[in-house]
Formats: sequence, C-alpha cells, structure tokens
Amino acid sequence: MKRLLIMIAYAGLCAAARASAPAVRTTPSYQQRMQWFADARFGVFIHWGIYSVDGITESWSFFDGDIPYDDYMKQLHGFTASHYDPQAWADLIRASGARYAVLTSKHHDGVALWPTQHGLNVVKDTPAHRDLVGPFVKALRKDDLKVGLYYSLIDWSYQDYPAHTKTDTRYRIEDDPARWNRFVTYYQDQVHDLTRRYHPDLYWFDGDWEHTPAQWHSKELRDWILAHNPDAIMNSRLAGWGDYGTPEQGVPIARPPYKYWELCLTMNNSWGWQPHDRHFKSVDQLIRILADTAGMGGNLLLDIGPRADGTIPGIEADTLRQIGQWLHRNGEAIYGTVAGLPKDYYAGDSTLSQDRKTLYLFIDGNPQGPVLVKGLTNRVGRAWVVGNGTILSPQRVGATLGNAPAPLYIDVPADTLDPQHVTAIALKLDGPIKLYRDTSKPTQLDPDEPTMRTAQSW
Ligand code: GLC
Repeated sequence: MKRLLIMIAYAGLCAAARASAPAVRTTPSYQQRMQWFADARFGVFIHWGIYSVDGITESWSFFDGDIPYDDYMKQLHGFTASHYDPQAWADLIRASGARYAVLTSKHHDGVALWPTQHGLNVVKDTPAHRDLVGPFVKALRKDDLKVGLYYSLIDWSYQDYPAHTKTDTRYRIEDDPARWNRFVTYYQDQVHDLTRRYHPDLYWFDGDWEHTPAQWHSKELRDWILAHNPDAIMNSRLAGWGDYGTPEQGVPIARPPYKYWELCLTMNNSWGWQPHDRHFKSVDQLIRILADTAGMGGNLLLDIGPRADGTIPGIEADTLRQIGQWLHRNGEAIYGTVAGLPKDYYAGDSTLSQDRKTLYLFIDGNPQGPVLVKGLTNRVGRAWVVGNGTILSPQRVGATLGNAPAPLYIDVPADTLDPQHVTAIALKLDGPIKLYRDTSKPTQLDPDEPTMRTAQSW
C-alpha cells in the first residue's frame, strides 16, 4: 500500500513537472531542415549590386582587369535604388510560382546591401542611403516566401583580404596569419549580423574556392549558424560544409550525386543587369529546364538582374509571370515531387509524387503519336492531363512476358495538350512505383560488338 502511494505521488509529480516544463525544442534533422527546399523546386535568384550602374559583370570585371578597380567603384555614386519596390519584387516572385528567392546581400566586390558595421555598404557609400535587404526580407515573408541571402566569402575590396585583383595580391596568409584571422572575424561577424537582423531561411555562400575549409573556418561558421538559426539551410559553397549541391549554368545530363541540389541559371548570359546581353532563353526552354531539373530531383534557381534604380527589366518580369502561369496549371507535377523515371523507361522528363503512387510525365510539344512508358510493373488506374483534367486511356500493347510488363502507350490528343508549353500528364498507380529491371539478358552496348560474344565473355 505504502509503495502504491509513493508510486501515485511520484506519477503526480512527474505529470506536474511535464505540465510546467518549458517546451524543449528538438533540433530539426537534416531532412526536416531540407524539406521545404525539396518541395519548392523553383526559386528566383537576384543579382543586384553597383555593377548594374554601368551594366558590367559583377565583381569579375575589375578582378579580371576589364576595368580599373577605381572606375568600377565609381559606380557607387550611381546606385540610387530610387524605384526600389520590394513588395512589387516579392509579388512578382510569388506570381512566378517560385517558393523562395535569394538576394545578393554582398558580392565579391564587398559592397553590402545592408548597413554592415565594417566594410563598404550601400547605406553609407551610395545615394541609395538605406538598407535594401530588410524591406526585401519583410516583403517576401508577407508573401509567404522563404528568404535566401547570397553572401560572398570573398571580399576583394576589404583591406585584410589577400586577393584584390587577378594580378594584385595584398599578402600571403602564411606570411601574416594574424591579418587573415582579422578577415575571418570580419566576414563571420557579417554573417552573424545578417542572421541576427534577418534570420534567413537559406544562406547562399559563394567564393569558397579561394581558400581551404580550415582557412575559412567553415565548420565553425556552420555550427554557429545552426546554433542561432536551427532551421536554416546552406548551399554547398561553404567549403564542404553545406547542405546541398549547386551546379551552375549547365543543365546536368544525369542526376547529380547529391541528395538535394539546385541548378542556378541565368535568363540570358549574365547574372547582373547587362543591357547589351539579349541572349535570353525562351520561356519554353526555361520550363523544359524546370521539368528536367525536377525530374532529376533538383531545384531551379532562376536569376534576374534588376537595374540600379531597382526596376526589373520587362523581359525578365514577363518570363517570370509566364512561368508562373504554367506552374499554376501544372504545379502538381512539380511541387513536392521526387525524381522520376530513368530515361530508358520514358524518353522524356518525369517526376513522382512523394508517396511514389502518381507518375507525372512531361511532354515537349506535340508528340505526334502515343507516349510510351516501358517497364512499369504497376497497374495504372486513372490517367489525366494535369493542366485541364482530360481523362486519358493508357493501353498495354503486347503480352507480358515472365515478369517483363508490356509497354504502356498513352494517347494524348492534340487538343488536350498545354496551349503554350510543356504538357504534364499524370498516371495514378496501384501502389508505390515498381519498375521491371531486365537482368536476364546482356545489353548490346557497342553496336560493333556481337551480343553473343559479350554474353560469353561474361
Ligand atoms: C559564380 C560567380 C558569381 C555568381 C555566382 C552565381 O560563382 O563568381 O559572379 O554570382 O556564380 O552562382
């Protein structure tokens, strides 16, 4: 009896303790931190800095010697941001269907867009005279978009940074480690400041190639960020300490070797505003790239370059809006999906719903005949055109041989295709996707090589 009473009292104490204990916040796992990013699939990159005054290449133009450093820096006087309307930017990003945006808070030229305590910044050094990051962050959050800040580890303007231009180095780290340490303190303080002020969801580092992880103290910075901003994610350009891969410009041919990745891509051939560069990708090409990227399990981070007054060039804004219209019709096949079929099962881009029970196939243009899927073991229930709901009737043609399923043909009538761009169709499967893998026969890889000889030599 006494033991029972003690147990009851103990249980009561525990319950009371539970009730009054402050909620302990568990540290989110890697996957939990990455989930919004994996679901987003599309983001907008913004390269905005003093290089938009003369419309020249961001930072590299003086580093590579195309223009003297002092002339490059004269652009400080022309950076007005006079028509900067962060809410209009955020609304445009929202309309594009992107789920996040990444703004260059500081490029390699060292000019910060926020009032950093040390170093160049637009508040004290340009006629813009105000913080440009804060209002952007606020507007994105108002539109329910995730906030990414690009930050260049390199700072070719800062007196304690070794490199100034390609041909002019201030000092070597080995000769003056104390000076390098001063730089590390400066740059990490800037990242701390960005964190405290804006609490970004994503840190987009750049420029790590100039030094080693140990020199950057990149693990230390990562740990600090996660201790102060536990849900944050970081790209890979933190010298090996990031969360996701960042292929740049070239659309990968095969799925890149990262669990999470993001292709960053310019709309023309420039990151910042360069009016002479009219080599714009078409909306159709960009949508294909988006489908291709999603089909390989990655995100597309599509870049725009606002002018020095803060206006976004019309062609870039139009492109974003048109992508948004397509996503509005076809978003189900992009958002929240995972990588689709290998190309030998379907000769195009495809994605799968997270439970892998719905297969989305993308069709470029008019297929001029039924769409073919090979090796799909599942039974297909409903099939439809994502953009307009038209019901389709896939057919198995040919006999199932052993375990090899007959090919599936899907007729998609021309009048059901997306009116402008890529068409997405959906196939509801009877369970998580199962693909047939043909291991019984050797594949003839080299057409000059007789198959039997290959088989025998195996
Ligand atoms: C490169 C360039 C830089 C650009 C970035 C975007 O690292 O140095 O100019 O901002 O790519 O991904």
